[in-house]
Amino acid sequence: MSRKKITVVGAGNVGATTAQRLIEKEIGDVVLVDIVQDMPQGKALDILESGPIYDYDSRIIGTNGYEETKNSDIAVITSGIPRKPGMSRDDLLKVNAGIVKSVIENIVKTSPNTILIVVSNPLDAMTYVAHKVSRFPKHRIIGMAGVLDAARFSAFIAMELNVSVENVNAFVLGGHGDTMVPSTRYTTVAGVPVEELIPKARLEAIVKRTRDGGAEIVNLLKTGSAFYAPSAAVMEMVEAILKDKKKILPCAALCEGEYGINGLFVGVPVKLGAKGIEQIFEIKLNAEESAALKRSADAVKTLCEQVDKLL
Ligand code: LAC
Repeated sequence: MSRKKITVVGAGNVGATTAQRLIEKEIGDVVLVDIVQDMPQGKALDILESGPIYDYDSRIIGTNGYEETKNSDIAVITSGIPRKPGMSRDDLLKVNAGIVKSVIENIVKTSPNTILIVVSNPLDAMTYVAHKVSRFPKHRIIGMAGVLDAARFSAFIAMELNVSVENVNAFVLGGHGDTMVPSTRYTTVAGVPVEELIPKARLEAIVKRTRDGGAEIVNLLKTGSAFYAPSAAVMEMVEAILKDKKKILPCAALCEGEYGINGLFVGVPVKLGAKGIEQIFEIKLNAEESAALKRSADAVKTLCEQVDKLL
C-alpha cells in the first residue's frame, strides 16, 4: 500500500464512523478490526462500496485479527464498552482496562512504530494503559478528548451568538471527565475574547453544558454514547499527523512537569505533526484555572492508581 495505513480497532459506532470519515476524506487506507465475527468485514465492505458514489479511492478492509494491521502508521483504539444513562466515564474503568490492554499488546506486536490514538473511556486512564502496556515513546501516545470537548464548547458558543462555528476558537484543558476545564479566558470569537461577548452567567451555563456534553448525548441515545462528534475529532487528529500539519489541538499527552503535572496523561494544547505529539505548549494560567486543572489531574491520578492495581 502506498497510501498511509490507519488501523481502527473496534467497529462499533465510534470506530466504524471514524473509518468512514477517514475514507471519505481519503486520509489513508483503513483496516477495521473487531472481535465480532464478520461484522467489521461487513461494515468495511459497505463503506468500500460507497466509493463509486462519493468518488474516493481509499481502501478499507475489515478483519477479526491483527495480521492485516501490520505496519500501520496510526492505530486508533476505540474498543471497550460505552456508557449507559447514569454511568460516568469512570465506571467503565475495570472492563475497558482489560480490553485496551489486550488490544495494545496485539498492536505492539504487529506495528511497533505506529502512533497510538486512544479513544476508549475513561479516556485519560485508558491512554495511561496504552502507555503502560506499549512502552512507546510519549510522542506516539495520544488521547482524543480535548478536540471533542472544544468542538462541543464551540458549537454551543456559535449557537448562542448566532455566528459561524468557524469564528469560534475554543480552549479546553484537563481530563475528559466531570472535572474538565473549558477556559473562557482563552476562548475567542473572531479574535475577541468570548467573555466580552456572552454574559458571565450564560457563559457558565455553556461551560457546564460542555462538561456534561457526553452525558447529554448518552441520556438522549439511551443505548450508547456519542459517535459523530468523537469520530470527527479523531479524523482531525489523524489528518494533522498524516499531513504533518503541525496543528495545535488539545489532546491527552503525557505530562512530565508541564503544568506541574507528572506522569499523567491530561488534556493540554499540543502540536500534532508527522512524529505525533511534537510539542506541548505550556501557557500561563491564572490561579483559578491552575486550581481547576490540578483538580482535574488529581481525578485522573486516582483512576491511574486503580489501573496500577489492575495491570
Ligand atoms: C463523550 C464520551 C464518548 O464525551 O466520552 O461523548
